[in-house]
Amino acid sequence: MSQAPLRTVVVLAAGEGKRMKSATPKVLHPLLGRTLLGHVLTASSAAGAGQTIVVVGHKADLVEAHLSEVAPGVTPVLQAQQNGTGHAVRIALEAAPEATGTVVVLNGDVPLLRAETVASLIEAHESGARGATVLAAEVGDPTGLGRIVRDASGGLERIVEERDASAEVRAIREINAGIYAFDLASLREALSKLSTDNDQGEEYLTDVFGIMASVGHPVGVFVAPDADETLGCNDRAELASLRALLRDRVNQAWMRSGVSILDPATTWIDVTVALEPDVEIDQNSQLLGATSVAAGAIIGPDSTLIDTTVGAGAVVLRTHSIGAEVGPEATVGPFSFLRPGTRLGRKAKVGGFVETKNAELGDGAKVPHLSYVGDATIGAKANIGAGTIFANYDGVNKSHTTVGEAAFVGSDTVLIAPVEIEPGAYVAAGSAIQKGVPAGSLGVTRAPQRNVEGWVARKRPGTVSAAAAERALAEKDAAAE
Ligand code: UD1
Ligand code: CA
Repeated sequence: MSQAPLRTVVVLAAGEGKRMKSATPKVLHPLLGRTLLGHVLTASSAAGAGQTIVVVGHKADLVEAHLSEVAPGVTPVLQAQQNGTGHAVRIALEAAPEATGTVVVLNGDVPLLRAETVASLIEAHESGARGATVLAAEVGDPTGLGRIVRDASGGLERIVEERDASAEVRAIREINAGIYAFDLASLREALSKLSTDNDQGEEYLTDVFGIMASVGHPVGVFVAPDADETLGCNDRAELASLRALLRDRVNQAWMRSGVSILDPATTWIDVTVALEPDVEIDQNSQLLGATSVAAGAIIGPDSTLIDTTVGAGAVVLRTHSIGAEVGPEATVGPFSFLRPGTRLGRKAKVGGFVETKNAELGDGAKVPHLSYVGDATIGAKANIGAGTIFANYDGVNKSHTTVGEAAFVGSDTVLIAPVEIEPGAYVAAGSAIQKGVPAGSLGVTRAPQRNVEGWVARKRPGTVSAAAAERALAEKDAAAE
C-alpha cells in the first residue's frame, strides 16, 4: 500500500478588493492580530498540506513580503491578470505538477473560518470519494454571492453566480462560501474545460461543479456548522462586523478558560495573545500582539498592552504599554506610558503620569508620580521622588543612569546621564545631579533660600496676596503684644 498523499492548499489572493478603497490589498487588512490572509492560512493549516500555494496578483510585492514574514513555507504564484477564480486555480496547480490527492481551495478573504471546519470539509469530501465538495451556508442576505442549486434529490447540481442567475435562483439563500475540497486529478481535467461564457467573461472555479456533475463525477455540499465562519469581506463596514464577531469569539473562549472579562463588548484581544486563568480584564482594554498575562493579574480599565508581558498578580490600570515586561505583583498606572525595554521587577511600582523607556526597575523599586525614566537601571527598593526626570539625551547621544539598591531620590530632581547614584545614597529634592553620588552620601545642588521681607507690600500692593499678608502680619503683631 502506498502512503496517503499529502494534501495541497491553494489560497486565492490576487484580487484588489476594490470596495475596500485602500492602498493596501484587501487580504492584508488586519483583524485582531493577523491579516485576513494570515487567518485563512492558519485555518487551512489544518488541511495538513504538503504544499500551500497562494495566488498573488494585485500588489503582489506587498502580499509576497507579508507571506515571507508570516508563512515563509508557502509558495506564492503570480496571476498577472485576474481572469477569474478558475484561471487562478489553474495557474496555481501548474506550480504543483506532481501533486495528487485532495486540494483545498480557499478565497483569501474569509478570516472567520475555523480550522475544525476545514478538517470536517476534507473529511466529508474524502469519505464521499467525490470529485469536488463545496462549503455552503444558509444566510439571511445572499446578495452578491454564488448560489447552491440542488437537484430534485437534494444533491448539488451546480453553482450559479448572482449576476448570471435567474430570479428563481437568486431567491436561494444557500450560498457558496468560496471554500472547497477537490480531487486534484478531476479538478485539473475540469479546469481545462472552463469557458468564459458568463457575465464577467471570466473563468469561474464554480463552473467545475457543473462540469464534473455532467460527466458523472460525484460532487457534494458540506454545510458550515456556523454560517458566520463563511463571511467574506468586501468593504470596511464588513471588516468591522467581522472584527466584532471575532472579538466575541475570542472573548468567549477566554472566559470559558477562566479569564474574567468585565465588559466583553469593549475588550479587544488579538488572537496572538496568551492569558492564564484568573486574569481579570476590566472595561475598555486592548491586548495586542505578543502580549501575555499571568494568573491573577488585573488589566484595565482603559489599558492598551502591545507586545507586553505581565506577571502573576500584577495590576496595570489605565496604561499604554508597548514592548514592556511587568513583573509579578508589580503595579502600573493610572496614566502610565511603558515603552520598549521597560522591565519592572517583582512588586515594582510605576505610578501616575510616569513614562519609562529602556528602564529596568528592581524588585520593589518605586517611581510613583510624574516622572520620565529613560535608559536607566534602578536597584531594588529604590524610591524615585515625584517629578524626577532622567535626562538621558544631550541632543546627540543617549546615556545611561544607574540608581543603586535602596537609593532615595528626592522630588523634582534631574539626573543628568551618564550618572550613578550608588546604593543607599540620597539625593535632595530639587537637585540637578551630574557628578554621581557615592554610597550612603547625600547629593544636593540646591541654591540657598533667601527671603526678601516686605516684597509683596512693595511690589504687589492692592492684590489679594498683599491683603492676606497684611492680615497675617497684623495677627502676628497682636499675638506678640
Ligand atoms: C466567489 C465565488 C462565489 C462565492 C464567493 C464567496 C467564483 C466565480 N465565485 O465570488 O460563488 O459565493 O466567492 O465570497 O468563484 N481571485 C483571484 N484571482 C482572480 C479572481 C479572484 O485570486 O482572477 C481571488 C480574490 O482575490 C478573492 C477570491 O479569489 O480572494 C474570490 O474572488 P472574488 O472576486 O471575491 O469572487 P466573488 O465574485 O466574490
Ligand atoms: Ca468576494
